[in-house]
Amino acid sequence: CGIIAHVGSDRALGPLVTGLEKLEYRGYDSAGVAVKNGNGLDVWKCSGQVSELKDTIDTVESSATLGIGHTRWSTHGPPSDENAHPHTDESDRVAVVHNGIIENYESIKQILLSEGYEFTSETDTEVIPNLIAYYLDRGNEPLAAFKHTVADLEGSYAIAVVVDGNDSIFAARQGSPLVLGVEQDGYYLASDVPAFLDYTDTVVYLEDGDTVEVRTDGVDIVDENDQHVQREVQQVDWQPDETGKGQYDHFMLKEIHTQPTSLQKTIEGRIDADEHVTDLDVDLDLTDIDTVHLVGCGTSYHAALFGSSILNRCDVSARAIRASEYDVNTGTPPENTLFVAVTQSGETADTLQALRQASDVGASTLAVTNVVQSTAAREADEPLYIRAGPEIGVAATKTFSSQAVMLTMLSQHIARVNETATRVNNVGQLLSDLRALPSAVDRILQSSDAAGLAQEHLDKNAYFFIGRGLGCSVAKEGALKFKEITYEHAEGFASGELKHGPLALVTERTPVFAVCADDCDKTVTNAKEAQTRGAPIVAVSPPSHKIVDTADAHLSVPDMHPVCSNLLANVQLQLLSYYCATELDRAIDKPRNLAKSVTVE
Ligand code: G6P
Repeated sequence: CGIIAHVGSDRALGPLVTGLEKLEYRGYDSAGVAVKNGNGLDVWKCSGQVSELKDTIDTVESSATLGIGHTRWSTHGPPSDENAHPHTDESDRVAVVHNGIIENYESIKQILLSEGYEFTSETDTEVIPNLIAYYLDRGNEPLAAFKHTVADLEGSYAIAVVVDGNDSIFAARQGSPLVLGVEQDGYYLASDVPAFLDYTDTVVYLEDGDTVEVRTDGVDIVDENDQHVQREVQQVDWQPDETGKGQYDHFMLKEIHTQPTSLQKTIEGRIDADEHVTDLDVDLDLTDIDTVHLVGCGTSYHAALFGSSILNRCDVSARAIRASEYDVNTGTPPENTLFVAVTQSGETADTLQALRQASDVGASTLAVTNVVQSTAAREADEPLYIRAGPEIGVAATKTFSSQAVMLTMLSQHIARVNETATRVNNVGQLLSDLRALPSAVDRILQSSDAAGLAQEHLDKNAYFFIGRGLGCSVAKEGALKFKEITYEHAEGFASGELKHGPLALVTERTPVFAVCADDCDKTVTNAKEAQTRGAPIVAVSPPSHKIVDTADAHLSVPDMHPVCSNLLANVQLQLLSYYCATELDRAIDKPRNLAKSVTVE
């Protein structure tokens, strides 16, 4: 979910709705706003996307200068008007927006029900306005009522609150992101910076345990020990135009096309003129590491897989582990484990949970992330920022490429400081090809046949993606992208596994996309096994690769170092998914049931 709050000298509704539009990547099954007018609170909310809320709000004349807003990804209770935020108490004195989960809501609700407070939704959030009302009813001032309430809550939350008759916004952060935007004559609070980047790039990142009172003329921040604190005021270097679609029909297409620039930024200053990876500004001793755990979810997990392949080829022991499985599948990390959280947003609850588990047993920790000052960036020993710029499309594209490149550079750094033998052929070529990667991506974007190929591959039974080694991570990511945005059944396999089960599904209506950007003669054999059973084969490979002679169609990638050719193969598959999804008229940037940043386990 995404939350926004604004207090200023001008009308609040416009910035609140703009903020929600920018936060929609965090959830889009319902939306709402509440503002304080001269004689009470006005609340508008509905199931559906922000555009539907906007249609209602566009007809409203409101001069309110203080309000809150929310865009939802359902956890407790399905999308409905009742379950949409903001939630209010029965007498509409208090309105609340919340991102996270209140774990003890059932016990609080029982107490409040027995005291006569009434509930209308199925959400955990609704206990918050009622609890504030409970404390107001017992003679507390609004700020005290808010603080008592926060003290009673267990779980994770970023909340923002307006109380009738009060000129402040109250907010608190515990385990869910919340950032303050500072303007000349007002403030914003939001789950993420893009929500208010059109208005200000001056920010204060709040800490877990902080409660905040924001007024037009100032802010009070109190930490978990009830001490007034000043938090650092910072400038973000994202530009407002980075959060718009520009000339593109979709954010996803824009982000695919931004990759030459975003990769350039990822690499900048990290490979020196002698083709060495620099120390990456990591103030952490990376010598004598016994093993590396690369941990992430979804696309980030695939980047972790890619990174683990490279580390293993450098004779550094490494495992990619799905964050949601870390506790059950890993046991206590061995001594001298380096834990690398791979997370675009830096806020994925599963990944944070695994990071905390590894930290607790003394592992050294890094966070490969795109979001400066995100929770992962702050909780890890050191952040490694991928500098890809804001990614709004729910299906991750440019951040996968940048994460994979960042992990490639990290692997070379670790291999060098540990003087491990390296089977990554020709490291010099790898690093010079990495530098050339942005322009190679640009050439693919200019010349790709993916749009034409997409036309020929609509309405099939299933789509299989196969590859070996690095190509296997790319195949898995290709399949994930495809299913996320086309809603077609797609699976990514290690090529050799096709014959151990999935082949039973193969017919002439199951195209097989074979990633062959490496030494992968065995993939050619596996592709032929599928072709013999009728499957059309699409090779994703350099033009000179022998799979091209076998394949029914071809998506070409330049013949570079295998690390780079595989990443270019991924760009071709991004385009393929995009064009298939456009042909099928899917909601490309907001696929059904998904959210970009899932802050619950
Ligand atoms: C969600 C998104 C995926 C994303 C995953 C990890 O499930 O829908 O697209 O890959 O979270 O996100 P992160 O921010 O940790 O990379």
